[in-house]
Amino acid sequence: MNKVRIAILISGRGSNMQAILQNIQQNELGNYCEAALVLANVESAPGLITAESFGVPTVTVPSKGKTRQQFEQELMQYLAAGKVDYIVLAGFNRILSPCIIAAYKNRIVNIHPADTRAYQGLHGYQWAFDNKLQQTKITVHFVDEGVDTGEIIMQCPVDLTNAVTLEDIVQRGLAAEHIVYSQALTHLFKERM
Ligand code: GRF
Repeated sequence: MNKVRIAILISGRGSNMQAILQNIQQNELGNYCEAALVLANVESAPGLITAESFGVPTVTVPSKGKTRQQFEQELMQYLAAGKVDYIVLAGFNRILSPCIIAAYKNRIVNIHPADTRAYQGLHGYQWAFDNKLQQTKITVHFVDEGVDTGEIIMQCPVDLTNAVTLEDIVQRGLAAEHIVYSQALTHLFKERM
C-alpha cells in the first residue's frame, strides 16, 4: 500500500511541523507517510523556511482579506494537486468549514495543548497557568465541525508541578507535543495500512 500523503497546515512557528518532518525522515512515521505539502495561510510564517530546509514543497495561501469560501477553494486546489490524503493541522489559526471537513472526513487531525474534554479554543497553556493545574493533557484529535470537539486519537499527560511561569508550562507542553503528535500519526497510519 502507498504511503499516506499528508499536508501540514501552519500559521506560524511550526515547531510541531518540524518535529513531524524530522520523524518522517528519521523514525517509524516515515514508513507510513510522506509530506506532500506544507501550506501556510500567513506569508511570514517562520515555519515555511523550516519546511523548505527539509525539501518539502511549500505554498502560501493568504487568508487575510478573503472570505472563508474563497480561501478554502484555493486550499482545496492545492490539496487536490498534491494528492493529499490527510490534513495535519499544526498551529493553524483558521477554523475549517463543514464543507472541507466533510470532504476529508476523519482525515483531518489537530493537536491541542490541553485536554479537549476540559478546555477548547485558544490559549490552552494560559488556561493551565491561570488555573494552577498540576497536570495538563496534550490531545491529538480528529477535527469535526466543532472547535476541539472531535474524537480523541491520543493524549499525553504533562506534569506541571513546580512550573512557576507560563513559559515553563509552554516549554514542558511543547516538548510533549513534539513527541505525541508523531506517535498519534504513526498509530493512525499504521492501523490504516
Ligand atoms: C501548539 O501549542 C499547538 O498545540 C497549538 O498551536 C501551537 C502551535 O505551535 N495548536 P507550533 O507552531 O507547532 O510551534
